[in-house]
Amino acid sequence: MKVLIVGGGGREHALAWAAARSERVTKVYVAPGNGGTATMGGKVENVGFDATDVEGLLGFARSESLGLTVIGPEQPLEKGIVDAFSGAGLPVFGPTRRAAQLETSKVFAKDFMRRHAIPTASYEVFREYGPAKDFLETASVYPQVIKASGLAAGKGVIVAENREEALQAIDDLFNRRVFGDAADEVVIEAFLTGQEASVFAVTDGTSYRFFLPSQDHKRIGEDDTGKNTGGMGAYAPAPLVSGEVLKKVEARIVVPTLEGMRTEGMPYKGFLYIGLMIDQSGEPSVVEYNARLGDPEAQVVLPLLESDLITLLEASLQGALGDAPFKMKDGAATTVVLASGGYPGSYVKGREIVMDEKLKTYDDVVLFHAGTTFDGTTLRTSGGRVLAVTATAPTLKESIDRAYLAAGYISFDGMYYRRDIGAKAFS
Ligand code: AMP
Ligand code: GLY
Repeated sequence: MKVLIVGGGGREHALAWAAARSERVTKVYVAPGNGGTATMGGKVENVGFDATDVEGLLGFARSESLGLTVIGPEQPLEKGIVDAFSGAGLPVFGPTRRAAQLETSKVFAKDFMRRHAIPTASYEVFREYGPAKDFLETASVYPQVIKASGLAAGKGVIVAENREEALQAIDDLFNRRVFGDAADEVVIEAFLTGQEASVFAVTDGTSYRFFLPSQDHKRIGEDDTGKNTGGMGAYAPAPLVSGEVLKKVEARIVVPTLEGMRTEGMPYKGFLYIGLMIDQSGEPSVVEYNARLGDPEAQVVLPLLESDLITLLEASLQGALGDAPFKMKDGAATTVVLASGGYPGSYVKGREIVMDEKLKTYDDVVLFHAGTTFDGTTLRTSGGRVLAVTATAPTLKESIDRAYLAAGYISFDGMYYRRDIGAKAFS
């Protein structure tokens, strides 16, 4: 069977890597892919379609008689790629445009959670500057969390520590329109305290299977300081999400979410990402839903999947997820993101990436590329997050050590990475 992975980041490299391990898969195309998927060799090949070029991808899927297309990022979901493929009778794994609203509209997601009594921060929705300003001027507690409802490349959330910051945020959103139409609607919600974790389910709309719970490291600086990024590293399993906590997540969040989506006529099929805040007593609430796997969380949860990913996704498409083999590996995984100096602000692209030959002898390490390009001879940086160095090991501590050891064999001008990935599991 031939498979297509749509997207070009680290998550998509990890999806391509997992797909290529399947004995049933003869070819893995990645659109547009990156320098890592370009140099994997074997079954994997990049094809030059943008991830949001729905028409182009549809034509390609038809002409290649693809057995399965897996959607990595959220933008093609919002463009209705799953509806288009399904409409043309092509097997595709991901939620429809309507179901993906759990991610693409925060107003939809919050109202949905309210309708179905799913635990989340209390909130109000605003469509104009004036009422939002009145609300923030009279708010008795800070921080307040201000969110553009639409997709904003992970940047549309402002945690305002005080009134001044909050008013600045709504001025940026409503008046200066820094996120354009994405902020036509704005959610203002209560600040939740606790620790964040990510739980991913594969679901056919009714049945579901969980990958191992993970924790991302969103801030650029050590000890979770500085600006928000796409994610600077991750590890799994996250001890914070104990069996007991996961049971609560299942009963209070996952089951009512899938049931609610079914009863509202938009069954949710695909990867479901639940961004959680877990308070001091182990009570979970939803910070956000995403309609996809996390990046860099995919780079730790997929290497820990023992079962065949493609068989699992196919079973899910056939509504037979409950019967599919599903096994996780023992042990743990850590991924450390190597970024371009200056990220998440401006940074220089085109730096040559040098890797020591010794890396090849590390069987427990996989290098997932994100912002890289390969011109046939040289591998160069082409983005803020450049590489995710993943190590699997019997224990979390060992996986952290191995990932950092491997990172030491890679260099490019201006390379930056956090030195404390995984440390919060021990705090
Ligand atoms: P989101 O895009 O909704 O996940 O928000 C991005 C980040 O903002 C989250 O990962 C949290 O770190 C933070 N955040 C969002 N909503 C809240 C909240 N209600 N309370 C505390 N932190 C939040
Ligand atoms: N790592 C966070 C995300 O993928 O949204």
